[in-house]
Amino acid sequence: MKTKALLQVVMLYSAVKAVTPGFQYTSKNSSDAIGNQPCSLGDYISKARCQQSEFELICTAGFTAYWIRGMKREITHLRLVDWPGDCFNIGHLEFHYPELLILEFINSTSLRYFKGHFSALNKIQKLTVHGMPHLWEIPAEVVSEMGELREINLKGNMLRHMKARLLAGPRRLERVYLKGNNWDCNDGGLDWLAMEPENGTLKRKIADYYDLVCQQQLYKGKPLHIVMDIIKTIRRTCPDPCSCTMTHIVSDTAGAVIPLITVNCAYKKLESPPASLPPGTTTLRLEGNKLKSIAVIMQNIISNPQYKKLVDLYLDNNSISAVKELEGTEWFTTFRVLSLRGNLLKQIQIFAFDKAFQANNNLMHVFLGDNPWRCDCLYIPRFQNFLLKYKRVLRDQNDIRCSKTNDRKTSLVQINKIPLGNICSSDDVELPISYINIINLVLLALILIIVARFLYDRHNFIRTGKLPWLSSILP
Ligand SMILES: *[C@@H]1O[C@H](CO)[C@@H](O)[C@H](O)[C@H]1NC(C)=O
Ligand SMILES: *[C@@H]1O[C@H](CO)[C@@H](O)[C@H](O)[C@H]1NC(C)=O
Ligand SMILES: *[C@@H]1O[C@H](CO)[C@@H](O)[C@H](O)[C@H]1NC(C)=O
Ligand SMILES: *[C@@H]1O[C@H](CO)[C@@H](O)[C@H](O)[C@H]1NC(C)=O
Repeated sequence: MKTKALLQVVMLYSAVKAVTPGFQYTSKNSSDAIGNQPCSLGDYISKARCQQSEFELICTAGFTAYWIRGMKREITHLRLVDWPGDCFNIGHLEFHYPELLILEFINSTSLRYFKGHFSALNKIQKLTVHGMPHLWEIPAEVVSEMGELREINLKGNMLRHMKARLLAGPRRLERVYLKGNNWDCNDGGLDWLAMEPENGTLKRKIADYYDLVCQQQLYKGKPLHIVMDIIKTIRRTCPDPCSCTMTHIVSDTAGAVIPLITVNCAYKKLESPPASLPPGTTTLRLEGNKLKSIAVIMQNIISNPQYKKLVDLYLDNNSISAVKELEGTEWFTTFRVLSLRGNLLKQIQIFAFDKAFQANNNLMHVFLGDNPWRCDCLYIPRFQNFLLKYKRVLRDQNDIRCSKTNDRKTSLVQINKIPLGNICSSDDVELPISYINIINLVLLALILIIVARFLYDRHNFIRTGKLPWLSSILP
């Protein structure tokens, strides 16, 4: 609909011009039905230079007045160098140069967009745009109706994105050159390339496809075709109902490109983890599901090759009440991040955690907050030591609190700050006999034995006159 309207405007415009030869496009409004920026070919007449040789015209820094007066049917090859405006009006160009076969835009530091689009009747076969540092995208609509276009050369610009329609639109298009641009493989704008089959018709039109390089963010410097293959694999292997993203990409020592993938299955009402993952998954997010244990995850980590690379595991807000399955696994000594916030953990095997943490050189963060931790004198002293020892790793200590109870001294109290006296006090009836009391009892028993022995020896001495053994050997 919209393109038809545009076309009509262009045609109408052309008709008006045909009966008013010599018209100068100085008006900022009248003919610019599309967009609200002035965008006229006649804006730069004073500084422009144009040079004709037979059918070829080269204009630098704009058009001179002569070359935008009426139709120039004799020109079939037009090269525009250093176009000084930020906009270029295609409708006007088509009117003045109806017989163009070759059109080139070279080296313009200002040009940012094209106004209007080439019409279906346009005869241009070869379109070159080169050296435009501010042209981020050429909208597919600009060229998609061109009936005769065979070749588009877009080498050496700052293009970041391209729509499939730019290649699929022009009926006769055979070749496109795209090298030397700023391709952004990051934000999904080129994902249609990833989803093309191996020898897809569009991909085949890109003559330098295997030379293209991604230039933005994560993928900076990585070959575009490899990134596209990875994106395709991820799309194909992403488990339902999760979403998968490549969060990083690294090259190993052999130069192979290794993707680091995050699989996000948060809040999907899952009772078990996905059975398969894209190869190279490093992060699995399972927050807010209905997992009751980590048994299946640990089983997958041990036996499922797709879980082999997993180093970050987020299990917040599930219903996990124990993590015994971690103990003794290789993963426990190699993982990077483990989040168990908001579960039903009452206690962990501190000895096993301590051992694993000491052995783990990758360890970055473990989150244990918002669990109903057991707070009694048997557990808390050791747990406190553990929290202190790994305070760099256990990052949410403010949220590691005792479970909610009726005991005001402990209920929801932050465990690393809890005074041991509050937990291990003697008036705490629930507690078994404390260590200090055990020692007291032992000492009392020893004293009683010594006193008894003394009484026995004395009694013996009075009865038999024999000194006790110890006294008899002393000098
Ligand atoms: C030019 O166009 C703008 C917006 O399209 C409008 O507000 C303005 O009045 C127009 N000026 C003239 C001289 O037509
Ligand atoms: C465009 O710019 C490049 C680099 O600045 C230069 O080498 C080339 O000759 C220029 N092309 C034209 C046609 O002026
Ligand atoms: C795709 O093209 C490559 C080389 O151009 C060729 O080796 C391969 O067999 C083709 N694959 C298919 C499925 O056509
Ligand atoms: C877990 O649930 C709590 C409370 O509902 C919420 O504040 C928190 O953001 C959730 N955490 C995650 C990672 O979803």
